[in-house]
Amino acid sequence: MKKLFPLFAALLIFTSCNRVSVSSPEGHLSVSFRLARGGVPQYSVIRHSSENRKDTLIRWSSLGLTAEEADLTKGFIMTGWKKRDHLSEWETVWGEERTIRDSHYEMDVHLLHKFTYMTIEFRVFEDGFAIRYKHPVSLFNFLGKDYSLTITNEATEYRFTQDAEAWSIPWRTEYYEGLWEKRTIHRENNASGSECTSDTLCSPITIAFADGSYGFVHEAALNDYPAQNLHVHEGALRTYLTPWLEDGKERLSSDGESIKAYESRPFSTPWRMVILTENLQDMVASRIMLNLNEPCRIKDTSWIKPMKFMGIWWGMHIKTMTWEQGPKHGATTENMERYLRFAQAHGIDAVLAEGWNKGWEDWKHFEFTTPYDDWDMAYLSRLSDSLGVQIVGHNETGGNAAAYEEDLDSIYRYHTKYGIHAIKTGYVAPIIRTRDGLQWNKGQSGVRHYRNVIKTAAKYHIVIDNHEPVMPTGLQRTYPNLMSQEGVRGQEWNAWSTDGGSPCEHVTVLPYTRIMAGPVDYTPGVFHFENPVIPTTRVHSTLMNQLGLFVCFYSPLQMACDLPEHYMEHADAFRFIEQVPCDWERSMLVDGAIGDFCIFARQGRGTKDWYIGGITDEEAREAIVPLSMLDEGETYTMTLYRDGDDADWETHPYDYKIETRKVHSGDTLHIRMAKGGGFAASICKKQAQ
Ligand code: NOJ
Repeated sequence: MKKLFPLFAALLIFTSCNRVSVSSPEGHLSVSFRLARGGVPQYSVIRHSSENRKDTLIRWSSLGLTAEEADLTKGFIMTGWKKRDHLSEWETVWGEERTIRDSHYEMDVHLLHKFTYMTIEFRVFEDGFAIRYKHPVSLFNFLGKDYSLTITNEATEYRFTQDAEAWSIPWRTEYYEGLWEKRTIHRENNASGSECTSDTLCSPITIAFADGSYGFVHEAALNDYPAQNLHVHEGALRTYLTPWLEDGKERLSSDGESIKAYESRPFSTPWRMVILTENLQDMVASRIMLNLNEPCRIKDTSWIKPMKFMGIWWGMHIKTMTWEQGPKHGATTENMERYLRFAQAHGIDAVLAEGWNKGWEDWKHFEFTTPYDDWDMAYLSRLSDSLGVQIVGHNETGGNAAAYEEDLDSIYRYHTKYGIHAIKTGYVAPIIRTRDGLQWNKGQSGVRHYRNVIKTAAKYHIVIDNHEPVMPTGLQRTYPNLMSQEGVRGQEWNAWSTDGGSPCEHVTVLPYTRIMAGPVDYTPGVFHFENPVIPTTRVHSTLMNQLGLFVCFYSPLQMACDLPEHYMEHADAFRFIEQVPCDWERSMLVDGAIGDFCIFARQGRGTKDWYIGGITDEEAREAIVPLSMLDEGETYTMTLYRDGDDADWETHPYDYKIETRKVHSGDTLHIRMAKGGGFAASICKKQAQ
């Protein structure tokens, strides 16, 4: 035994030097780092629960990067670590709330691998944690030699300790426009060992653990790196980076590995972040992703304003109008004038026009500065100015990002000359053409393109609504002119999808999945459910469910997507769309269950008024809403828009009731939501006009 003592002592010293932990400021979560045998970096996560329990949520899981030049997944020694605390509050330019608190502890672990230094940075919040790889630099850098890394893999994994249900979409889902599916992740599941299988999933993934708690695995601050995907391997979620392509196929490194990213200077990867909360409300309220992004880089943000808009749009999707010029052309001067005047009369801030520019005949050669002959840009620009209703421009690239990027300055100069300061961009093509040839839009090259667009747009005071985007990761904190994005199976599928339209459940999954990643341009607000051209496809909701979406689905550019004449069929219900803001002081999930229902309450920014929205799936249910968010002792006027007694998305979608009454903070609302139904309420200090 005596003989073994020095060995134990040496082991102890070795172990203590190779293991270090950091906790969240209030001690709720703690993350430990260690170098396992062979110098393999690993982390684990513990939650200190309210009942004084210590639960391991993530057991030892691998970290690291593989590059053509160095295998940064093993063979490390730890050269030191540094911890810091951080507490700040910052004001959003627009958002679900005005002020966001950022309270976390940080830990940098410094590692050396042969000639390469790398830091792994951890941030631990009460409601989650994040990890990133920072500044892998070689000693050769110091010798003034060029040093670059060709990343072929990332070893980050998440070994959750519990069985879980996870909502996700496959990683190749075109434009992320899929129905989120619930899968079971078993701890000991022995699924495929390969990094990319048919089971590889897009980030984010939303998780309901067996013990009733929740998780959300995503990334933050994706700036110059491929988007992360995830696959299940031996019960762990593992990272699969979107490959770099060459002639549409994966480009291979000299040793036959699929190349994912090129880094030529000290760089940081995006944050790998996991929200971990004991209930669904806290998961939805988490602002970790925004906190992990850099502060705003635009000095004067006064030109960035949330707005509601309508558009020459739904007509094309239900095929009563066309994008291209012809007898049913939507974007004519006359039609746009009708929309602009309607918007002005109803307090809608802006109107989008799709199909105003040449190129829609083949979707290949779009001209971004040449209108069709029946579109008088100068006249419409003057009209929009005199009416005080903005025009939202539309730049569909057909996936030719390279051509668009080449002309960005002149395109944006043209738009601003006509007073257009909001543009919806589009990339309809499963593989886009970037300056690096045919690439995944969520590969590194695509990500770079989107960033260039946002930065260039900011120079011209243009805000962007990005369709067919890369999944949002909170970049709107740094560039708040990136206001909304698609990346969702949106309303348009209810116009033409051959499967008949999205099931009722779809909208009750999105607030907990896609919308957790950032504002969504879902385009709510269909008021007319008969579909003249494709009668077998339709919106699976009641009219009140459509109103509820305006509160449940957050977007600072919020579209009311239907035609003016359809809104006038239910002018009393349209009042809610006229009134509801799209910028908030505070927001909260009142109640909900993933894939069943959700009820949100939001307070209009700079006001005392509250808006509550609820939506349910194919099951009717009662919404119970305590009004405790209202100021005590104050009287409010509530206008409630609710499903009528016979409402049902399939048989009576138009059956609704509008009621106005006084309410107080002690009251609790009991509202019946029909099958595929919902409700909306405005609760104002002053009586609505
Ligand atoms: C797909 C977009 O999602 C839709 O909103 C747009 O109308 C078409 N592309 C045409 O750009």
